[in-house]
Amino acid sequence: MTAFRDRYGRVAMVTGASSGIGMAFAEALAARGMDVIAVARRVDRLEALAGRLRDAHGVAVTPLAIDLGQPDAARAIHDCCAGHDVGLVVSNAGFGFKGAHEDAPPALLAEMLTVNCTVPSLLAQGFIPRLKARAADGRGAGLVMTASVEGLIGCPYSAAYSASKAMVVALGEALWGELAPAGIDVLTLCPGPTESEAAARQGVDMAAVAQRPAIDVARETLDRLDQGPTFVSDAKYQAMFDAMRAMPRREALTAMAAGMKPKR
Ligand SMILES: NC(=O)c1ccc[n+]([C@@H]2O[C@H](COP(=O)([O-])OP(=O)(O)OC[C@H]3O[C@@H](n4cnc5c(N)ncnc54)[C@H](OP(=O)(O)O)[C@@H]3O)[C@@H](O)[C@H]2O)c1
Repeated sequence: MTAFRDRYGRVAMVTGASSGIGMAFAEALAARGMDVIAVARRVDRLEALAGRLRDAHGVAVTPLAIDLGQPDAARAIHDCCAGHDVGLVVSNAGFGFKGAHEDAPPALLAEMLTVNCTVPSLLAQGFIPRLKARAADGRGAGLVMTASVEGLIGCPYSAAYSASKAMVVALGEALWGELAPAGIDVLTLCPGPTESEAAARQGVDMAAVAQRPAIDVARETLDRLDQGPTFVSDAKYQAMFDAMRAMPRREALTAMAAGMKPKR
């Protein structure tokens, strides 16, 4: 995996590294010999991860306890990364909730839009000049944005989350168009159901749903960083969402609303 580190350098920054897909990204990057700046709120988790990855791979993991629900979070991350030559940015942290849009607590909705949309947009903006500088020097640079298959079409009863991830898809695709000519790899990951803490946090029962292991999703994403703009990490959901997008929109949304309506 030396080729990967030769391309993206010694240091990656990963948000949402305390669990799920973000932790898997940190593990997969450490296995490729990269140091990781790991961002989340649960610093105890990040410290445990740091110890584990140091012992397993001899890499340094720097825990950064930052709440991405605060609009100045991106600036705090940029400041903390100033002394590091970050060649790969993984903007992964996010959360959602299910249910009728009118039932969502307004403060939670606003926080979600900050975590899922505002901060990733500002984070990318602040890192782009540094990634461009690396690419201009003939070194590689990359940006991963974690969206969701729910960003590919409006999902009833997951309206705000789905809309937030549509923003990430649009942002990531647009940045691919802006940055690919500069030699920067931009890949927007659209996971289908993936093993993580997200379902438990949302109170969603996933017993009947096949979920992919997060480490497989992370490894496959890193393997195709140069094959942007987007990667749907679950073939079944890729086919399902392709079929829905090919249907008349009213039919697709009516069918989805019937399937996703919470059972009371
Ligand atoms: N798992 C899936 O099926 C699936 C499907 C599609 C898309 N996704 C996307 O994948 C990404 C990762 O989610 P996951 O499934 O791995 O869920 P997860 O296990 O709940 O992980 C979410 C991560 O985001 C961090 N995070 C959330 N809110 C934060 C905040 N305010 N400040 C700082 N960090 C915050 C969490 O850290 P702390 O709580 O420690 O702060 C945690 O590390 C998200 O963007 C999610 O929307 C997941």
